[in-house]
Amino acid sequence: MAATSGASAEAAADGTPGAGRAAVSCSRLDYAFGDTRAVDGLDLAVHEGEVFGLLGPNGAGKTTAIRCITTLLPVPTGMVRVFGHDAAKERMAVRRLLGYVPQQLSADSGLTGRENVALFARVFDVPRRERAARVAQALSAVGLADAADRLAGTYSGGMVRRLELAQALVSAPRLLILDEPTIGLDPIARTDVWDHINAVRAATGMTVLVTTHYMDEADQYCDRVGLMHRGRVRALGTPDELRRGLAERRGADALPTLEDVFRDVAGSSLDDNSKGGFRDVRSTRRTARRVG
Ligand SMILES: Nc1ncnc2c1ncn2[C@@H]1O[C@H](COP(=O)(O)OP(=O)(O)O)[C@@H](O)[C@H]1O
Ligand SMILES: [Mg+2]
Repeated sequence: MAATSGASAEAAADGTPGAGRAAVSCSRLDYAFGDTRAVDGLDLAVHEGEVFGLLGPNGAGKTTAIRCITTLLPVPTGMVRVFGHDAAKERMAVRRLLGYVPQQLSADSGLTGRENVALFARVFDVPRRERAARVAQALSAVGLADAADRLAGTYSGGMVRRLELAQALVSAPRLLILDEPTIGLDPIARTDVWDHINAVRAATGMTVLVTTHYMDEADQYCDRVGLMHRGRVRALGTPDELRRGLAERRGADALPTLEDVFRDVAGSSLDDNSKGGFRDVRSTRRTARRVG
């Protein structure tokens, strides 16, 4: 059943039978930049162990929501919890539980892959005695063992993204948050990034929260998705539930795509590129150019 309001997100956070504990729960989260209500009453629950996709066009508020969950932005109103810890009051506890791959590239091209990951190991307090082994393990988990001692500046776009994945994984997070991890990558490199995420997940049971505007990718890799538009989740469910829900409403024979579902939810307002303006396109292009 495809629910189209935040109410179901709250119900899931309370422990719907069969649903895991909440890895993330946001309730009535707001965040504004001046007059722009980037996040506007967001309700969201990510269950422990699932891959949850936060989908939406540029400007929908995905990055802002993610930055509140990672504690990089304060929570002005509403409540954000990560495995039960309040993001406003227990920032360090929250940070220790999560790994984060930001939308803007964060690897240093003047360091080797190994040095980049080692830096994160230090920042995230990986015990000194374990560091070298954990760095090597993270690099090998993303398929970069052989390239570990090359400068990151010589890596392809897909390798840079996998390096950032290793940076986020070195602290053995229970929750991995990825903001547009495959933007600007070719289809093979995109699949490659996902294969590595899924392998780590299978080995550790880590929860994954990912944002993307590639609907096909969400359809393939996410257990559940939330369609975000104008600062709020407007539809929530498994990709299949959402597609079947629309098919039933329309009485159509062919199963619609997630993109069709999105258009149904967001209506024609999607065509004005949501609230995303020049700023969003520019920042997306910048990332895409650097990995391309
Ligand atoms: N630092 C900022 N200053 C001003 N406005 C911002 C800033 N970051 C985001 N916004 C605006 O907030 C809205 C949501 O942006 P964002 O969270 O980046 O969306 P998404 O990640 O879905 O593309 C957009 O209208 C965007 O222009
Ligand atoms: Mg974004």
